[in-house]
Amino acid sequence: MYRDRIRLKSLWGRVVSPEEAALLIKDGMTVGMSGFTRAGDAKAVPVALAERAATDPLKITLMTGASLGGDVDAVLAESGVLARRLPFQADPKLRAAINRGEVLFVDQHLSETVELLRSRQMGPIDVAVVEAVAITEEGGIVPTTSVGNTATFAILAEKVIVEINLAQPAELEGLHDIYIPTRRPFREPIPIVRPDSRIGLGAIPVDPAKIAAIVITEKNDSAAANQPGDADTLAIAGHLTEFLGHEVARGRLGRQLGPLQAGIGTIANAVLQGLADGPFSGLTMYSEVLQDSTFDLFEAGKLAFASGSSLTLSAARQRAVLADLDHYKTKLVLRPQEISNHPEIIRRLGIIGINTALECDIYGNVNSTHVNGTHMMNGIGGSGDFARNAYMSIFVTKSLAKGGAISSVVPMVTHVDHCEHDVDVLVTECGLADLRGLAPRERAGLIIDNCMHPRYRALARDYFAAALKRGGQTPHVLEEAFSWHLRLRDSGSMLPA
Ligand code: COA
Repeated sequence: MYRDRIRLKSLWGRVVSPEEAALLIKDGMTVGMSGFTRAGDAKAVPVALAERAATDPLKITLMTGASLGGDVDAVLAESGVLARRLPFQADPKLRAAINRGEVLFVDQHLSETVELLRSRQMGPIDVAVVEAVAITEEGGIVPTTSVGNTATFAILAEKVIVEINLAQPAELEGLHDIYIPTRRPFREPIPIVRPDSRIGLGAIPVDPAKIAAIVITEKNDSAAANQPGDADTLAIAGHLTEFLGHEVARGRLGRQLGPLQAGIGTIANAVLQGLADGPFSGLTMYSEVLQDSTFDLFEAGKLAFASGSSLTLSAARQRAVLADLDHYKTKLVLRPQEISNHPEIIRRLGIIGINTALECDIYGNVNSTHVNGTHMMNGIGGSGDFARNAYMSIFVTKSLAKGGAISSVVPMVTHVDHCEHDVDVLVTECGLADLRGLAPRERAGLIIDNCMHPRYRALARDYFAAALKRGGQTPHVLEEAFSWHLRLRDSGSMLPA
């Protein structure tokens, strides 16, 4: 059966067990694995590697597209295999190991990893482990439900291990658009001018001699971990829909809006779902992760086309989409993440970027990664690629976290991922602050009044009034700027006793 999927017959002899393939990975190596937010990840070799580490300890640097599914990050972290991990993760056990200092995590903009590798500012990649739906007659590797960084890992690696996953339908072939930018400093413009532009190949071109092992697997992607939306996410979507409606009425956006990007996680997914009830039509997406919300918009007849780097879906949605690929193939494309997140294209297409903040401050700076300034949550992912370059950069968050013990709007964020210059609009369930063209002193009042939970507003107004007395372009009372976070650390709540 698998021989149909390995169309270059000379490679049939390279089929081995996951354990044998994992032996190609040695202590100290840098390994590039496929996988992007639980989609299209290598599923057997990393687990075999972790099992081997029980008797033959080894440490590697592991690079992927983004987070892995099936507990692979947890298994690798617990087996002590990970010395370094980049550029993104979202696993609670790996997160804990990172925050204990046992795994060094390099939190990168997702568009940048392969640029650093290609220019040898990082790397080299010793072994690439990539999931594929097929190998073509020429030895080209056809990815599965994500492209991520897979193409460049395979092209740069000394050796490539391919996991042919029989559970991934052969019809995935044709969904991908593999384009690798030319070398700098003489790089040509990347010729994407619309979300549905196709500019590359259907398979990753690699020298078949580098394919050192092929492993056969039969396992579905892990289901997306998003929780269903709730009254708060519905309210956020409502504020955003109303705001975008105003932009259309004022002629600043057409009814098709701009191509949409929505970040990972429960909130962004639910907010995008909310647009299905809005007055817009003929929408397009130029995003990174395509979640269930993309297919809700297709079903609602609102979405015409979606470009992404992965399909990260709930189990039910996975079954439905993979069973209907002939229909979706004309409406979808999966690209390398350096292309889905490329600043040149994001700026050219005029993208409306919707990403999620852990916390924001009264001036519009956003922390998406560090809990209380020190502890890593997931990573910046692609949010910075989009926020800096979008036509309109929107950040959403619930105004409260942990049952109200935390205000997501604070005097000063404890870590800045997206600075005030990259944030145009902030939305919580309480309301929306349109920050475009406003100075910090104007932003503060608006954010406190519109986005902050009423429980914290008086506290914030007192802080801002005291800060104004100190003066400055961005007034602060430095000795009190983190007082809310200190109270949280010491008493378990940002609210005074
Ligand atoms: N302080 C501490 N914890 C906070 C918090 C804050 N200010 N705000 C939220 N949290 C916690 C929540 O309580 C929740 O914890 P739990 O998992 O124990 O329940 C967790 O953070 C996730 O928050 P949730 O409200 O469920 O939102 P989400 O699933 O939409 O995730 C981010 C929000 C910010 C963690 C997530 O979007 C992320 O990692 N973003 C960065 C990367 C990114 O944007 N990539 C997209 C680019 S395409």
